[in-house]
Amino acid sequence: MSKKLGLPLEYNKLSEFFDSWNTNTDNKNALIEKILSEYGVKSVFDMTCGTGSQVFFLKKLCYDVVGSDISQKLIEIARKKDVNKNIKFIEGDMRKIKLNHGFDSVITIFNAIGHLTKSGFEKAIRNINHNLKDSGIYVFDIFNLDAMSDDIVRNFACYVHKTLGEYQFLSTQCSTIDREKGILTSYDTHMIQKNSEKPEIFNSKFSLQIYSINQLDEMLKRNGFDIVKTYDINGNNFVKETSSTILTIARKKQ
Ligand SMILES: C[S@@+](CC[C@H](N)C(=O)[O-])C[C@H]1O[C@@H](n2cnc3c(N)ncnc32)[C@H](O)[C@@H]1O
Repeated sequence: MSKKLGLPLEYNKLSEFFDSWNTNTDNKNALIEKILSEYGVKSVFDMTCGTGSQVFFLKKLCYDVVGSDISQKLIEIARKKDVNKNIKFIEGDMRKIKLNHGFDSVITIFNAIGHLTKSGFEKAIRNINHNLKDSGIYVFDIFNLDAMSDDIVRNFACYVHKTLGEYQFLSTQCSTIDREKGILTSYDTHMIQKNSEKPEIFNSKFSLQIYSINQLDEMLKRNGFDIVKTYDINGNNFVKETSSTILTIARKKQ
C-alpha cells in the first residue's frame, strides 16, 4: 500500500460493501486452482486475501492455505465467514510478513500488486521469495499496460447497486490512464443509504501501478524469479497487445 497511490474506500471504511460485490469470482478462482494443481501445489499462502475469496475456494478443495491482508477490516470479515474456524487469517503487509513455512505457492490475485509502488512491489517479490520453498511458484494477475487502449479504459466505467440488510450501496467508477508512468486512476462515488434516511456520499480516488510483461519479467528476474507461463484472466494464452490482464506464473530460482 502506498500513500501516493491511495486505496479504494471499500478496503477499510466500506469493507462490508467490498465483500458484497466481490462475489462473481468462481471462474477466476477455478483457473487459479487449475494452475496450482498443474504445478503440484499443496500449500498456498494468499498474501492479499481480502475477505478470503481464493482462500475459501482452495480450502474446500483441501489445499493447506493461509490468508493474510493489510486491511484489518477485510481480515475480520474473512474470520467471521470462516464458520469452522479452521483457517489462519493474519493481518500483514505483503512486503514484510514472514511465516517461515516454505510454501509451495504464494498468490496475490485481483490486481493486488497494483496497490504497491514499483519499489514496493520489488520489496514484495523478495519477501514472497522468502516465503516460498525452493522452486515454489508465485501466481498473480495485474492489468497489462501494453493493452490499455482508450476503449479498454473507458470500458472500466461501472455502476454497482447492492442492498445489505437495512443499507443500500450505490457506486459508480470511471478511470483514466497515464501510460508513461503506468498509473491507472479510478474516480469513485459511493452513496450509502440506511433505510430511507438521508444518504451519505463519499467521493474517492485511487491509483493502480500497472505493468507491461517486459517490466514484470525484468523485476521478477532481478529478485530471484523466472516467468514460466503467462495467461490472460480467462486462461487463454497471454497476448501482449490485446490481453487486458497478465496472469503470471513465476518460479523461484534455485
Ligand atoms: C482487489 S483486492 C483482492 C482481494 C482478494 N485477493 C480477492 O480476489 O477477493 C486487493 C487486496 O490487496 C490488499 N492489499 C493492498 N496492499 C497490500 C499490502 N501492502 N499487503 C497486503 N495486502 C495488501 C487489499 O487490502 C485488498 O484486500
